[in-house]
Amino acid sequence: MTRVSHHLLLCATPTKALCCPDPALGAASWDALKRLVREWGLEDPQRPEGIVLRNKADCLRICAEGPVLLIWPEGSVYGGVTPERVEVILREHVLAGRPVQEWLVRRYAFSALHGLNTLQE
Ligand code: FES
Repeated sequence: MTRVSHHLLLCATPTKALCCPDPALGAASWDALKRLVREWGLEDPQRPEGIVLRNKADCLRICAEGPVLLIWPEGSVYGGVTPERVEVILREHVLAGRPVQEWLVRRYAFSALHGLNTLQE
């Protein structure tokens, strides 16, 4: 089994561009997310906390204040994501466990599955 610490979903370059009118900003944020996850070793299966998964989503049904980043298992949704904010969010939220409150636009609760953060291989 591979342990997963966080799953990050970024609505970066949505087809309908409802939340992110500037596709270049979304694309740059996505590039920063991919690069930092890789450079900081967050995809290393030996990482004690588990790996960090990241995916580009077409729409997260927020459709405002984008680019929008959803982080599980907390269900935290960040708005106005930029490459600079991606770095802060990764450092503060993912690594230090301190959500960046001023950039949060929504919180979801996923209580039924909370705690089951492993992938079957
Ligand atoms: S288009 Fe980005 S959340 Fe819907």
